[in-house]
Order: sequence, then C-alpha cells, then structure tokens
Amino acid sequence: LKEETLDPDDWEAMRTTAHRMIDDAITRLSEIRDAPVWKDMPEPVRAAYKETLPLKGQPLDKVFDEIKTNLLPYPMGNIHPRFWMWYMGSSNFTGAMGDFLAAILGSNLGGGNHAAALMDRQVVDWLKTMTGFPAEASGTLTSGGSVANLIGLTVARNEALGQQKIREHGLGDAKLAFYASDQVHGCHLTAMEVLGLGRASLRRLPSKSDYTLDITALRQRIAVDRANGIQPVAIIATAGTINTGAIDDLPALAYVAQDEGLWLHVDGCIGALAAIAPKNGSKLAGLDRADSVALDPHKWLHAPFEVGCCLIKDKAQHIDTFALSQAYLEKELRGVAAADWLHDFGIQTSRGFRALKVWMSLKEHGVEKFGRLIDQNINQAEFLADRIRAAPDLELLAEPVLDIVCFRIRPPDLSDTDIEDLNREVMLRLQEDGIAALSDTRVGSTYALRCAISNHRTRLSDIDILINEIGRLYPKIALKLRMNKDQ
Ligand SMILES: Cc1ncc(COP(=O)(O)O)c(C=O)c1O
Repeated sequence: LKEETLDPDDWEAMRTTAHRMIDDAITRLSEIRDAPVWKDMPEPVRAAYKETLPLKGQPLDKVFDEIKTNLLPYPMGNIHPRFWMWYMGSSNFTGAMGDFLAAILGSNLGGGNHAAALMDRQVVDWLKTMTGFPAEASGTLTSGGSVANLIGLTVARNEALGQQKIREHGLGDAKLAFYASDQVHGCHLTAMEVLGLGRASLRRLPSKSDYTLDITALRQRIAVDRANGIQPVAIIATAGTINTGAIDDLPALAYVAQDEGLWLHVDGCIGALAAIAPKNGSKLAGLDRADSVALDPHKWLHAPFEVGCCLIKDKAQHIDTFALSQAYLEKELRGVAAADWLHDFGIQTSRGFRALKVWMSLKEHGVEKFGRLIDQNINQAEFLADRIRAAPDLELLAEPVLDIVCFRIRPPDLSDTDIEDLNREVMLRLQEDGIAALSDTRVGSTYALRCAISNHRTRLSDIDILINEIGRLYPKIALKLRMNKDQ
C-alpha cells in the first residue's frame, strides 16, 4: 500500500506556485485604488459555486486559476479606500502574511507550551496597555466583538449570581436585568438569549439627543427593577455606537455602577482603540474603570478577520467563569502541556493563532502610527460633515464623534417617502457603479446614509469623490421620482 501525505511531491514546484499567488496578491492590493469598490458576480461565477464535491484532485496552479477567475475579482470591498459600510477594518498585507505564517505553524492556541501561545498572551497584554487596563488584568482573543461581549457579560452574570451556583445548576428562577441605551449593538440581544435570560432582560433605555445612555433614566429603571424583585447585574456602556459613533459618559457610568454595586461592561468594539489616538484619545476617558471591555482589532487595527478581544479587570473572576478541568487536558510541569489552557478564558477549546497578524503589524508600524491613523479617520469624518453642512441639499443627521457620519440628501420639494427612495437609490447606484460603498440606517426614525471611515486607505480626496458623485447622481433620480408622482 502506497502511503500518502498532503505535502507536495515537488516542494520546488510548490515554491513557484506559492510565489505566483503572492505576486498576484501584491499586484491586486497595490492597484486596489483603481479597481471598483464592488462589482456584482455574473451568472457563470455564481454557477461555479454550485459545483459538486471534487472527488479527484488537480494541480494547485489550476486551482489558483479558478480562484483568480471566480473569487479574487469579487471581494466585499472593505480593502478599497472608498468602502465605508457597516463597520470594519480594511485589512493589511502584513497582517495577511501573519495569517499565512500562523497557518504554516498550524498552531492550536487552545493550550500548550509553545511560542505562539506566549505571543497570544503578549498581544492581550499590549491591548491592555492600549486601553489603560492594568497589567494584572485578564483577557482573551476572540473571533470578534460579538463573542468578546458575550464573554464579558457571562462573567458579569456569573459574578452576580454566584459562580458555583450558576455553573452547577444554571439560572434557576433568577430574574436578572442588564442596562444599555437603545443604541446598543444587536449582539447584546443575542448574548441575553445565549445566557438564558431572554432579550427582555436587556433594558434598552431611550437615549439622549446625543445618542448616549440617559443616566437619570438608568437610575430610575434600576430602582423600579429592584422594587419588582429583579436583580440588576450590569451596565453595558457603548464607546462608539454602531449607528452614530456616540460614546456613553464612561466616568459617570463608572460612578453609577460603583454606587449601585453593578458590573460595568464597555462595548468598545468601535471606539475603545481610539484611546491610542493622540488627538481623540481623551474621548475614551473612564474606559479603564470598566470591569470588562470588548474591543475589536479587526476594526481599527485593520487586522484581517477575525480577531476580537475581551479584557476582564479581575483575573480570578474570569477564570472562575470558564475554568474547566478534564483528565484529557491536564496541565503538566514539563513538556508540551506545561502551560495554561486558554479554554479557561472563554468558550472555545481549539483556537486559531489570531495574535500573529496583530503582532506583526504592531511591530512593523508601531502603535503610534495606528493612533495617528485613527485620528486621520476622525478628521476625514469631520471633513465629510463640513462638506455636508456646506451643501444646500444635504443634511447632517448627527454630529460625528468618531469616524461615523449619518446624513441624507434632502431636496426641498420631495415627500419623506420619496426622500427615502432617493437616498436608497443613490446608495445602491454608488455601490453598483463601483464608486463608493455606504450603508444605511435610521437615526431616530429618519432614514440615513451612513459612512463609517475605519479605513487606512481613505484619503480626503476620496471624500471629495463621494460628495461630487452624490451631487452628480441625485438630481436625475429626484427628477424621475417627481415625474412618477406627476403621472
Ligand atoms: C458596537 C459594536 N459592538 C459589537 C459589534 C460586533 O462585533 P463583531 O462584528 O466583531 O462580532 C460591532 C460590530 O460592528 C459593533 O459595532
């Protein structure tokens, strides 16, 4: 019987193929500014993804040719300088090499006495430094912000109910409540469900006119819940809301949490890393007073997806929540298993080596450059807001605090429904023409175009292109809407 392996028969041929892939990637990325931000896939490309399971193999060169035809020309677009949808980073080549090298090592970061595990701890330590968390705090890298938030809220829930009790017997008849503004990210609703509490346990309090958590309403709701036999657990502050980038009053919320004996969790997936920005870092004052913080290196550190992080101030509370001892995963005094098991810090057993892409980029550029890039994006958002204020038919819908700008096109003689149709059509045309990618939302009840500039490739001239292209597109669409109405 011939023994087989997945290693190539000819390593030199593999070297040539791998170089071809790297060359193609470098060319593609260096020319990204001239590519459309997005383009839809033609039918043959879509059909290719319905092909059935390959039974026999083929040369890797041929596989790569298929990738070049059907995959690489159709990215989501967030590597493009004019992609500003939802909220994500724009990746970077060094980080991509980090992911490649991490895969070459094949490391499972679940546990083990090896260099990748030390680097994982080091990156968590660096994230503590960036956010002002103490060195003795705990933390863990995660798939992203949603899981980072879930981890923080799980520790909060367990501490409130008693670790031993909840871990052994579950919630029982406990009635718990968490508090946030109505701008809180949807992942917290999922977290409530996963924690067995139900969505109603998250009190989403009407936010103030600046879209931050209303502290008077918070105090009142905590009192009402207590009077009704419900146990308040945690305040979820948001540092950078998904809608408008608003930052809750962290020092005031830290005070309320202390006064009420509650956990303070900060969802800093968007804004926490702005703490490293020289001009805007002070907006994050009070972040270090949180009991837990969720943050997202795949956003403003532009690490390739995925990497998030949850920091927990008290290491014992973190470990008490997740520690799991199993005979087949014993820690030894020497050898490969002479290390902490990282499943004691979260919900995964096997874990990918996410730290390397963050580590390499930080080593190459230094944290100061990442801070300047964050300031640069916030400055670009202010520039966009200024251009909107100066345009008679554009309306700014919220004052930008970080890098998110919400606005709409509002010609004087269109109904609210037509204005919404007009804005949506302009957003879709900008995407379909490959010019720029904006997303939409509602600010209050108003339909809004939303531009989130967490992109290290964006230049001020890209903002000019956006404004000019909107100016070119909307009069024709508005005219059509008016004509439809007249008919
Ligand atoms: C404020 C906030 N929290 C949580 C998340 C979820 O993070 P992720 O997409 O990394 O899971 C996001 C995503 O944009 C966010 O903006």
